[in-house]
Amino acid sequence: MSFEHTRVISESVKRIDARGKVTGETRYPGDIDIEGQLWMRIKFSERAHARVRDIDASAAEALPGVIRVFTSRDVPVNEYGLVIKDQPVLCGPGGDKAATDVVRCYMDMVATVVAETDDVARRALDMIDVQYEDLPAVFDAEEAMANSAPQLHPDCLGNLVARYRIRKGDMRAGWAAADVVVEGEYETTWQEHAYLQPEAGLAYIDEEDRVAVLVAGQWTHEDQEQIYHALNLPPEQVRVIYPAIGGAFGGREDMSVQIILALAAWKLRRPVKIQWSREESILYHHKRHPIKVRAKWGAASDGMLTAVESEVIGDAGAYNYTSNKVLGNAQLTVTGPYVIPNIHVDTYAVYTNNIPSGAFRGFGAPQALFAAEGQMNRLAAALNMDPLAIRLKNSIREGSIGSVDTPFPAGVTMPQVFEACGRESWWEQAASGWRLRAPAQPADPSKRRGRGIAGGFKNVGFSFGFPEHCWAGIELRGKADIDEVILYHAGADVGQGAHTALSQMAADAVGIPFDTVEIVASDTASSGSSGSASASRLTFMSGKAIQGAAEIALRKWKDEERPARGEFMYRPPPTTPFDPQTGRAQPNFAYGYVAQAVEVEVDIETGQVQLLDVVCANDVGKVINPQQLQGQIEGAIVQAQGYALMEYVVSDEGMIRNPFLSTYLIPTSLDVPPRIKSVILEYPDPIGPWGLRGMAEMPFLPLAPAIAAAIFNATGVWIDSQPFTGQKVVATLRRQGIGFI
Ligand code: MOS
Repeated sequence: MSFEHTRVISESVKRIDARGKVTGETRYPGDIDIEGQLWMRIKFSERAHARVRDIDASAAEALPGVIRVFTSRDVPVNEYGLVIKDQPVLCGPGGDKAATDVVRCYMDMVATVVAETDDVARRALDMIDVQYEDLPAVFDAEEAMANSAPQLHPDCLGNLVARYRIRKGDMRAGWAAADVVVEGEYETTWQEHAYLQPEAGLAYIDEEDRVAVLVAGQWTHEDQEQIYHALNLPPEQVRVIYPAIGGAFGGREDMSVQIILALAAWKLRRPVKIQWSREESILYHHKRHPIKVRAKWGAASDGMLTAVESEVIGDAGAYNYTSNKVLGNAQLTVTGPYVIPNIHVDTYAVYTNNIPSGAFRGFGAPQALFAAEGQMNRLAAALNMDPLAIRLKNSIREGSIGSVDTPFPAGVTMPQVFEACGRESWWEQAASGWRLRAPAQPADPSKRRGRGIAGGFKNVGFSFGFPEHCWAGIELRGKADIDEVILYHAGADVGQGAHTALSQMAADAVGIPFDTVEIVASDTASSGSSGSASASRLTFMSGKAIQGAAEIALRKWKDEERPARGEFMYRPPPTTPFDPQTGRAQPNFAYGYVAQAVEVEVDIETGQVQLLDVVCANDVGKVINPQQLQGQIEGAIVQAQGYALMEYVVSDEGMIRNPFLSTYLIPTSLDVPPRIKSVILEYPDPIGPWGLRGMAEMPFLPLAPAIAAAIFNATGVWIDSQPFTGQKVVATLRRQGIGFI
């Protein structure tokens, strides 16, 4: 048996889903119809916090064409949640679980209507009469921590869904050693995922009498688990399939339509479909966490950090979703990619009656790094040091001990990434050290240009002791030669091109040409659990699983088994949670590193900030598909540009007032910077397959603080809350006496 070696790793092979998506043949959940299907609409809460006294659906059920109205009494086990099952599937009286009769935010569901047509289902919603008894509500995380605040969940004093701390070194000695101390307060707000395909799905009874749910998500097996738990069914009675997925970014980690569709199809034994509008999508799925950070950093006159004290408060909204994990990651990144001898951090995730906050590309790190890198830039200014030079002095490197008092996993390349970013942008390495070249200023005196830099790191894989795993199956078909390779994998291609990259890795692992591989993906009926398309983990984890499965299959092939089938469950080195007292932990097994330099132009008359140039240095370990990698970098930067400069959720006592893409503004092709330079570094991760590291979230992380630094460089003014809208920037400039009156 011999194969001609075809290069398939580090090649921009054509995406396997390209043709279908370009021609429109690809079917997303909303495009799929089944003969005889019914339509579902959801009655959402009309209160931010209230007890549901009674639901009268008799008028709605009497409407011709209405098949059934489902309420809390119909849900066998009325609870769900990705990490903590703290949310009722349907809120109302008579549920089997405690406190299911309370709505805690406007995105709670009270009832679902199933009807012959979508129009009838929609009309029936207004005929459902819900009696509420209002409860006191709280919309601010710090207010929610007070003893007098309304308590949202039983047994959750102070509404604290998570609380962490770091106590490292000797703070008194740290402050004594500091020649300069800078203090800052940083605030970040919600961000909407704005994926292309709003929530949609279809549930039906399949040929093996399973309830099958066709939906867009990030982890088929986790969706399956939450569905069978709520329906009180054995796992094998529930099947989850992802057809094409129109983007996710963390926004599909939690449930939307999965459980209610499955419940209706299971009870009615008929196919049931739902399709949300853009307005419903924005109103009823979670957002990125608003996080407030109070930070005090000290450094010696040579720039070496001596002490960091931070308080981190995250608004979890009404339910946990992934808040306890997101705030854990915020705590881990709020000290930045630096070695700091003395650290004191307190971190809180707090329930409020706002929309739940949850996973969104970066998972707490963008907010925390906004504060950390803001502090670093302030320190550089206070010490009159170059912002790159001070970073390199303090940067974590191979063997460094982290804030959690354990060494970073081997393969730390933060200094190399910072240096590459400086070199490829506007820094010169003179005898005296790194020096930033100032930009040429425009002739127009109302325009000021500035440059800034920031960096960051993020975990690859689930953190803090979660039992990480990833499954793959490989089947080799043929007689003398391998003619066909089938890769079975549950991983979600959310639009990032994962299935193409997985197929490339399978081809290389087996040693056959790329187009010999066929992937059977994202169906719980044909795959083991691969974990989610999240935490920048999928390529890394799947690569290891695919290598393991290929090795087994090739061994069986040699032993003349036809077809030869290998299955493998990869388990990375274990991680540990924060020690409750000291924060000591081994939180992760791998990291990715990133740094960005930006140039902006600030209009001091209007406050408008133009992003002119971005240089993004990424250590990805090994490129699998260069073009897709480029797409991830550019996409993350544009998404982060929206976060930094324009995106703003208007929330009025828990009610989102701008649930449209005409009022919630995201960058368009006219906004993207004229140039994004991607600097790809390939320092292998010692345990990564082919040496690769995860990279999908990393280019999001440092953009907002890099832009804030560039605004300071241009104007001498710090902006400490995002988004840096014209209105906010101009007001800040005026307060400091800058600009025209
Ligand atoms: Mo992501 S924010 O790890 O889905």
